[in-house]
Amino acid sequence: VTLSHEIHLASRPDGWPTPENFAFVEVPVPDVGAGEVLVRNTFMSVDPYMRGRMNDARSYAEPYQLGQVLHGGALGEVVVSESPDLEVGQTVLHAFGWREYAWGPAGLFRAVDPAAAPTVSAHLGVLGMPGLTAYVGLLDIASFQAGDAVFVSGAAGAVGSVAGQIAKAKGASLVVGSAGSAAKVAYVEGLGFDAAFNYHDGPVARLLRTAAPDGIDVYFDNVGGDHLEAAIGSLRLRGRVALCGSISGYNTDAPTGPRNLGLATGNRLTLRGYIVSDHGDRMKAFVGEMSQWLRDGTVRYDETFVDGLAHAPDAFLGLLRGENTGKMIVRL
Ligand SMILES: NC(=O)c1ccc[n+]([C@@H]2O[C@H](COP(=O)([O-])OP(=O)(O)OC[C@H]3O[C@@H](n4cnc5c(N)ncnc54)[C@H](OP(=O)(O)O)[C@@H]3O)[C@@H](O)[C@H]2O)c1
Repeated sequence: VTLSHEIHLASRPDGWPTPENFAFVEVPVPDVGAGEVLVRNTFMSVDPYMRGRMNDARSYAEPYQLGQVLHGGALGEVVVSESPDLEVGQTVLHAFGWREYAWGPAGLFRAVDPAAAPTVSAHLGVLGMPGLTAYVGLLDIASFQAGDAVFVSGAAGAVGSVAGQIAKAKGASLVVGSAGSAAKVAYVEGLGFDAAFNYHDGPVARLLRTAAPDGIDVYFDNVGGDHLEAAIGSLRLRGRVALCGSISGYNTDAPTGPRNLGLATGNRLTLRGYIVSDHGDRMKAFVGEMSQWLRDGTVRYDETFVDGLAHAPDAFLGLLRGENTGKMIVRL
């Protein structure tokens, strides 16, 4: 292999990204040195946090550099190995992002079991970073207890669909989900959520009160904005919020915040943000439980595939617009 293709950041978006922010480029593949591997990518992840990395702003993840590849989670097959640690043909997970081939020290590639789930791409979703995000957010950050009534926004997405199913598996008294279309509401109900609503159907506060008339104990927040305000209005005494993400504000520089935060004092609420990469110590427990849930059908998952490296920007823009059910994945 002498040539590869990559998607680079061509310019920084102002508001919603556009296809012009990305460039499809051809690059030479260097010789594989001692201790290194060459990997042909098979699946790539597109994730909401990548939107933040397109800005030139300090955050928990480094900004993407202009003219450089968009890094992120991907799966591939080892095609050349100069390392005793990885064999040709092994499936590996890495963070080299949107490219046809990835290469480097073998230690930056982690072998995964392709048979661990019905699809190998599950390592980018339910069995990977988004699944761990759901697990840690619900159990550790929101301190979920059996009997809690739970509200999950972004419920048809990669993280939300898993968070709600874990809550059901662990004995929630009620799990309510919100999503952006009637078809997604039906999907979420099919996963075993007790109720779901389309947030376009009215003010979120009213829709949530109808679905959970007695209030909620836990809110798993993927959306922020009016969803967070509605949840604060419905939380009972000592309610807890996992601040996982606030996608409603990612493409605007004037995101809205909750106006009713004053309720947090009297109701002794806890609102806690977190970043999944700080919680690698929970990976083993998560994979153990999730593997069992996948085997016995307790947790189900869906994936939305977009084909071809050149269409990675479309997959990413589609994710931000809500075109995915379950995990959005680029298939090479
Ligand atoms: N804290 C962490 O470490 C961590 C790690 C991973 C992910 N996250 C966060 O978790 C959330 C979900 O991520 P994911 O990877 O699972 O993505 P996802 O939910 O699979 O995809 C994003 C979804 O967001 C929804 N959305 C877009 N704009 C919206 C809006 N204005 N209001 C309400 N919903 C909107 C869309 O669904 P609809 O059709 O329903 O609108 C879309 O499908 C994001 O906020 C992400 O940043 C946090």
